[in-house]
Parts: sequence; C-alpha cells; structure tokens
Amino acid sequence: FRTLRWIWRLTYLSALGGLVYIGYGVWEDRHPEPQVEPDPTKKTLVILGTGWGSVSLLKRLDTENYNVIVISPRNYFLFTPLLPSCTTGTIEHRSIMEPIRTILRHKKASVRFYEAEASSIDPDRKVVKIFDTSEVRGKITETEVPYDMLVVGVGAENATFGIPGVRENSCFLKEIGDAQKIRKRIMDCVETAAFKDQPAEEVDRLLHMVVVGGGPTGVEFAGELQDFIDNDIKKLIPDISDRLRVTLIEALPNVLPMFSKQLIEYTESTFKEEKINVLTKTVVKKVTEKTVEAEVTGPDGAKETIVLPYGLLVWATGNAVRPVIKDLMARIPAQANSRRGLAVNEYLVVQGTRDIWAVGDCAVAGYAPTAQVASQEGTFLALLFNNMAKTEALETKIKELSSSLNLQPGNSAEISQQIELYERQLRRMKTIKPFRYSHQGNLAYIGMDKAVADVTWFNGNLAAGGSMTYLFWRSAYISMCFSTRNRLLVINDWLKSKVFGRDVSRE
Ligand code: FAD
Ligand code: NAI
Repeated sequence: FRTLRWIWRLTYLSALGGLVYIGYGVWEDRHPEPQVEPDPTKKTLVILGTGWGSVSLLKRLDTENYNVIVISPRNYFLFTPLLPSCTTGTIEHRSIMEPIRTILRHKKASVRFYEAEASSIDPDRKVVKIFDTSEVRGKITETEVPYDMLVVGVGAENATFGIPGVRENSCFLKEIGDAQKIRKRIMDCVETAAFKDQPAEEVDRLLHMVVVGGGPTGVEFAGELQDFIDNDIKKLIPDISDRLRVTLIEALPNVLPMFSKQLIEYTESTFKEEKINVLTKTVVKKVTEKTVEAEVTGPDGAKETIVLPYGLLVWATGNAVRPVIKDLMARIPAQANSRRGLAVNEYLVVQGTRDIWAVGDCAVAGYAPTAQVASQEGTFLALLFNNMAKTEALETKIKELSSSLNLQPGNSAEISQQIELYERQLRRMKTIKPFRYSHQGNLAYIGMDKAVADVTWFNGNLAAGGSMTYLFWRSAYISMCFSTRNRLLVINDWLKSKVFGRDVSRE
C-alpha cells in the first residue's frame, strides 16, 4: 500500500506539474512583454523565409542587436512533419501553423515583417527585390529592401524533372494548400465514384490513388491515406470499399533509402499487410489527366511500360532549386559548379559573397534537406550573429577607451585595465566554432499506428519499428511543436479523430 500511495503521489504531482507547465505556456503566449523599437543606426539584417531555418534563427536571435526585417510569402511557420496527417483530416491544418506575427511579438526588440516574395537578390547593390503575392492589391506591389546582412532561408520547390504532365495534373505535398487540395480531392474521387450508374471501369480509376516517390513524404502520405480508407471511408461508404487501392511508385529498388535495411523491409512488409501496392524499380515518364505512364525494370533487366489509370495522383519526388536562388547563383561566379542550391562554407556564408548566409533546403552544406538540419543551421546563425554583435560592441568600446587615453592621462591605469578586460572578453567571444550538424535520427509514420525510427543512441544507432515506435514518434513530434497552443491543438485533433473518426465532408 505504501508503494501504491507513492505511485499515486508521483502521478498526481507530475499531472499537477504538467498543468502548471501548460498554464504557464498559455499565459506566456497571451502576455508578451512590451517591445523596444528597432534602432535604425544598427545594421539591417534581412531574413528571407519563415520556415524551419529562418524561424529557428529568429527564435534565438537577440533582435536588440540588429534592425531585423523578415520577408516571406507565408505569414506563418509550418510544422511540416505533421503535414501528411492534414491530408486526411487526422490533424486540422491550423493546428500545425504558428503565425509569424505571434513569434515576432515575443522578441525583445520589434521586427518588421513583409508578406512578400523575393524575386531577386543583388549582392553588389546589397538589395532584395520583393513583390506582394497577396490577392488584395495595394498601390505598391513591388519594391526593394536594402540590407547590411542577409539570410536566405527560402527552402526548395517540388522536383518534377520536367516530366510531361506532372505540374498540370498532380497534387504536391509541401504547403498547407497542397494538403487541403489532397483532402478535398480524395473525397471528390470517392463521391464521384459513388455517383449513380458510374461504370465499373471508371469507379476503379477514380478510386485508384497513386503516390509517386518512395521517400519519407510519399511513404507517410500512403500510410495516412490507407488509414483513412480503412478506418473511415470503408465504414461510411461500404459499397465501394473493396475498389479503393493505393499504389506507391518508386524508381529505386526500395522505399525509404535513408533508413536501415531492416526498417526498409519492415516498412515494405507493413505496406503489404495494409494492401498498399508498392512498385519499385518503376520510373514515371509521363502523366496525363487520367493516367500515369511508367517504365518498370524487371528482375532480368528488361524494361516494360505500364499505364495506370488514377483518380488522385500525389507527386513526392523531392526538392528542386527555387528561381530566386537560381538567379542569385547565376550572379556569383563561385557558385558556377553548384547544382542543388547555394554552396555555403562552414559558417554558412554563401561562397563568393560577403554578408550573405544561407540555411535549410536552399543551402548546400553537405547535409540532407531536412527540418533537423535547417533548424540547427538557424540556431547556429543566431548564436553567430549574437556573438558578432557583442564583438562589435566590445570593439567600439575599446576604440573609444583607447582614444580617451590621451584625453584623460590621469585615469590611464584605470582605462588600460578596462581595455584589457574588454580585450580578454573579445578573445573569448571570437572562438566560435564552425557549424557541425548533430544527427538525431530518422522517424517516419507508415500507417496502421506504426512508425519506423533510426535514432542515435549513446553514440550508436537504434533501429525500431512498430506501435511503440509510433508512440515515440507522437511524443517526439509533440515535444517539437512550436508552441503550447500547437501542442494542445494537435493532441486535441488526435483524440478527436480517434473518438469520432475523421471528418469525410468535402469542403
Ligand atoms: P521551408 O521550411 O520550406 O521554408 C521556406 C520558407 O521560405 C517558407 O516560409 C516560404 O514561404 C518562404 N519562401 C519561399 N520562396 C520565397 C521567396 N522567393 N522569398 C521569400 N521567402 C520565400 N524534415 C525532417 O527533418 N523531419 C520530418 O519529419 C520532415 N517531414 C516532412 C514532411 C513533409 C510533408 C515535407 C514536405 C517535408 C518534411 N521534412 C521533414 C523536410 C523539412 O520540412 C524541410 O527540410 C524544411 O522545411 C526545410 O526548412 P527551410 O527553412 O529550408 O524551408
Ligand atoms: P526524397 O528525395 O527523399 O524522395 C523522393 C523519391 O522519389 C526518391 O526515392 C526517388 O528515387 C523517387 N523518384 C524520383 N523521381 C521519380 C520518378 N520519376 N518515378 C518514381 N520515383 C521517382 O523526397 P521527399 O520524400 O519529398 O523528401 C524530401 C526531403 O524531406 C528529404 O530530405 C527527406 O528526408 C525529408 N523528409 C523527411 C521526413 C521524415 O524524416 N519523416 C518526412 C518527409 C520529408
């Protein structure tokens, strides 16, 4: 009984602690401290983008040190790891968005935000050309923003490799709008297939959901989609349920190439159980409004062309360089050999430039284009910039004191002592080490309440898959959510879809 009583007390205390933590988080969100105005005499730091890289930088940046301006066509931060769950309504899209205005309002010194897209960067004149992307047109829709320091964190766009028909006929999965489009399209296909007297062949086409790309985006989406079909659509619309099919197409011999062999096999066997049809060594060559044409390489190396009719096509074949980055690369001779984005040095400075840094998917620093890398790069730059500002402040003080030495000879010993102190501080500050990425592991949801994880564990690697890994996946992502508000909304969505099922209304 004594042990039981202790267990009860500990549970009670941790629940109470959790409530206090949540309460404080909510209170802090709603009661930001008053802000100081930015000092125009300070250097202007322009940050492009409101994604993982830029927002991680903003989170840690001491904005009192700079005159900070953020420019992005998206006035919110998007928690991309949970985006595949929005395509089926497991999570509502607003639960994984955090308004950039809220983030900026919590900084010590205020930061200006322009909802706009950068169309070009001129490194010689040190200006960024921007244009307003909103549907509401003001008198001015285009302008230039000068910078002293520039951070480029504009991410990447969807790769299509110029394959005909992809842009016109596919859904992508990168932005909130993409997830909303897919959610609507799934129910459109289902309701159209259920239309009176629909021919059997057309029903089969409409209910064939094809995913191209067996990287983590394609795999997670296929898993979420099959869950939606099995747990909700089949229950609510049973007459068409046996005709619904999901096919995942991958050019390489297996899906999830960045995971260990045993997890690849586990994923493929789970997909078999879920009845997701996986076509490997299959390269999509052409897409039309209703069909996907692909080339399959057989075990003997022989190539065969197949044509798959589809109702929904989701294209997830990785990243391509954005036009604004291509344009900047073309202006910098040192970037001539870089193909996948802006080549940066170990301090994330864009090679061949001064005062331009790049983070995340648009930068080539030798790491995979992931949120983990982008956020660590953003944090690194924040520490670097905070340090640079302190260094400059100390250097100015030393200069001032040195010049006052001649003016106040009576105080020279005291001033020299002070200079020495500042110089010591300066020496300590200047030893900031180059950026090193620390890999925490790979996680992916594969459907049926299962996930796979390759995580770094005491300098070794731990590979696991299954339902316990799914709980780990959930808790990892909950802890990584941007704010207490996001965490509560996501937990609420998970509970809601478990208890009531996902909402199948098409809106
Ligand atoms: P982004 O986060 O894409 O942000 C780019 C920002 O730049 C956006 O705000 C955009 O609006 C803005 N922008 C675009 N063009 C311009 C312009 N011309 N001017 C100004 N601003 C511009 N990674 C993981 O590590 N773990 C995961 O679980 C994971 N899951 C993912 C799931 C999905 C569905 C997707 C698509 C990606 C996932 N990733 C994951 C990858 C991860 O999201 C990216 O690597 C990460 O978002 C890169 O961060 P970023 O800051 O470079 O770019
Ligand atoms: P990806 O680049 O990881 O995978 C794309 C896949 O598409 C490749 O396996 C490629 O072989 C295949 N492909 C390309 N062209 C094809 C064609 N014509 N026909 C058939 N298959 C074709 O892209 P993804 O999944 O969009 O991920 C992008 C980045 O985001 C990656 O770095 C990834 O690690 C990261 N990410 C991480 C997640 C996680 O950790 N859970 C989730 C989603 C993305």
